[in-house]
Amino acid sequence: VTARLPDARRTGFVSLVGAGPGDPDLLTAAALDRLRRADLVLYDALVPPALALLAGHAQRFCVGKRAGRPLVNQETVNALMIRAARRGQRVVRLKAGDPFVLGRGGEEALALQAAGVAFEVVPGVTAAIAAPGLAGIPVTHRGLASAFVVVSGHDPEAYGPILDGLPPNGLTIVALMALGASRAIGQRLLAKGWKGLTPAAVITAASTDRSSCWRGTLSELAAGPAAVADALGQVDPGTLVIGEVVALAAVLGGQAAGHLPSAGVGS
Ligand SMILES: C[S@@+](CC[C@H](N)C(=O)[O-])C[C@H]1O[C@@H](n2cnc3c(N)ncnc32)[C@H](O)[C@@H]1O
Repeated sequence: VTARLPDARRTGFVSLVGAGPGDPDLLTAAALDRLRRADLVLYDALVPPALALLAGHAQRFCVGKRAGRPLVNQETVNALMIRAARRGQRVVRLKAGDPFVLGRGGEEALALQAAGVAFEVVPGVTAAIAAPGLAGIPVTHRGLASAFVVVSGHDPEAYGPILDGLPPNGLTIVALMALGASRAIGQRLLAKGWKGLTPAAVITAASTDRSSCWRGTLSELAAGPAAVADALGQVDPGTLVIGEVVALAAVLGGQAAGHLPSAGVGS
């Protein structure tokens, strides 16, 4: 794993690239460089097609999930990357946020390594930090939270033991893929002694012009607020944040929301 492309540019190579939360301005310079030099871009459904378009001459295919169902299964994605690299192509595997945060990037890296294909990882701005941050919620803050935990809300058997083991009220919980589980998560934390007044937020489509933020309390979350139900009906991704730091959005939210999606690198 290297942060630089090898000098032998004609050999096939795969870059596992983090696309950030959606705004082209939140792509890293390395991500933009790899896109501009790519022959083939395989991008996830959560990645706005506008980002894939930054790859000027490359072939581009969306290989992500839609409505929870994979368009292309993981084995096929791996096979496409490996085959293209063996043909000498520069492949960008463009994944939402950071490729190694709840995104199966590690599995893809292992598949490339097992196939003997040269690859690199280009880290991205994860929604786990960017979505709260853009809403004015620092995931840590002296005196409020000295740690944060990122969980997937996909599977109660996976997130349950993690949440159950957390000391109530001392840290920030960030849950991805958790809109459908937000009520169950709220109820679970209340049962474990978290205060009902603990602030909670759901941020959808962070960094895009459709961005929205619901803020309330853990008790409200556990009751299944209408705003979260509305968010569930959207196609946009959402990030759930629970902890005292969410209260800072009342002060910092307006300022942070001043971040404007811009034409920036795309122009
Ligand atoms: C499969 S996970 C991938 C996470 C990604 N690797 C990362 O580091 O951000 C997808 C989840 O990320 C979160 N997410 C991604 N983009 C987001 C955005 N723009 N706004 C809010 N949440 C987002 C949502 O919780 C979504 O269900």
